[in-house]
Amino acid sequence: MQQVNLGMIGGGTVGSGVFHALQLNGDLMASRIGVKVNVRKVSVKAFDEPRPYEIPKSCMSMDWQSVVADPQVHIVAELVGGTTIARTMILTALKLGKPVVTANKALLSAHGEELFAAARKHGTNLYYEASVCGGIPIIKSLREGFVGNRVTHLYGIVNGTCNYILTRMKLEGADFASVLKDAQAQGYAEAEPSLDIDGYDAQHKIGILASLAHGFWVKPQDIYVEGIRSITRTDIQFANQLGYTIKLLGIIKLVERRAARSAGATGTRRSPPARIQVSVYPTLVPNAHVLASVNHVFNAVFVRGDVVGDTLFYGRGAGKDATASAVLSDLADAALDLKFGTRHRLPPFVPYERHGAVAPINEVVSRYFVRLNVVDRPGVLAQISAILGQARIGIASMIQPEGDEGASVPLILMLHDAPNGAVTRALKKIGKLAVVKSAPVMIRVENLC
Ligand code: HSE
Repeated sequence: MQQVNLGMIGGGTVGSGVFHALQLNGDLMASRIGVKVNVRKVSVKAFDEPRPYEIPKSCMSMDWQSVVADPQVHIVAELVGGTTIARTMILTALKLGKPVVTANKALLSAHGEELFAAARKHGTNLYYEASVCGGIPIIKSLREGFVGNRVTHLYGIVNGTCNYILTRMKLEGADFASVLKDAQAQGYAEAEPSLDIDGYDAQHKIGILASLAHGFWVKPQDIYVEGIRSITRTDIQFANQLGYTIKLLGIIKLVERRAARSAGATGTRRSPPARIQVSVYPTLVPNAHVLASVNHVFNAVFVRGDVVGDTLFYGRGAGKDATASAVLSDLADAALDLKFGTRHRLPPFVPYERHGAVAPINEVVSRYFVRLNVVDRPGVLAQISAILGQARIGIASMIQPEGDEGASVPLILMLHDAPNGAVTRALKKIGKLAVVKSAPVMIRVENLC
């Protein structure tokens, strides 16, 4: 059987997970694909750093450059993370014409365009299944399974930490700060949690999925992001009363398409460029929708294709074993490409929507949950509804728990479809009313239908 050798950079949690998974199932994988992937060397920071699975010292090196340059290394896996040295490592391997497997979403988000171009230039490939949603094979599915579809909608619960916190807030009626503290104590959340809870990790992942699904490079700065810090148990409770659950959703949605233009005398028609919403924010999803039942650290990605209809991918989005599963899938593809000399059978990323664009958040239309803290007094509703009416924003439903006249009460409004900009402006005006006692809270609503 043909053999290919792997040089791994990184022997920590993910690296040792990959090493272990190859020991466990390397022969099975070889029997399926007809190529054996052997680990030739693992470059590590220190031989005796703590790692969940053992790696024999004879396999280790402290010199990543010699691992990458070794002529007997045919595939390189970058499993160190970060956006500086990891970029150099990947570029070095690509320049040598070696295929690279990476799990590094932050790096792809920041430098993906450059890395994919380098892979193309040097006639090799960059594989990145493990960069989004750990063990869920969403990259392969979008790239291959959906190749005959236009992806019209993608909704992803792509950050396990946020999903864990929101799930516990809902199930226990707990507040954000106490659940975060507990999640940190249990190791579910990082000591510095901002990457997760402020939505940036989800931004990296959604940017990669949007670029892949729509064929143009979506820059992180074009992705509108809100995290979950400001979500309160009161919002979760009122949302539930209305039949909704709050999830941090990555949303990729085809917004509009200009009329198709005729492309010459042949009568063939070219698709106009895509215009898409790409965003990450807390969202009310109907309790009856399957995404509302995705709980704790699990991830899920709901994809709608114009041919296939609705599909759902569910699984663990992080962890050594889930991530190793995705890395092995990429290693199998890389090994098959080497075996058959088909270096671009699966191009990592195919730019095909040259003029695609991300719609600014203020143009995005959705429904809204609004929580106001108002004085319970005659005429208050009239003032609020006048501002919404002038902005042509309709109220779909309303809850006001009974309170004492003259006291502060919550007023919950569900608003019909409206552009984000119009709602933001109207809420600014509402927030200035003397009868409104604190800044309005606005959470977007997706009915996912
Ligand atoms: N920290 C991420 C999460 C996993 O909580 O889902 C790695 O992207």
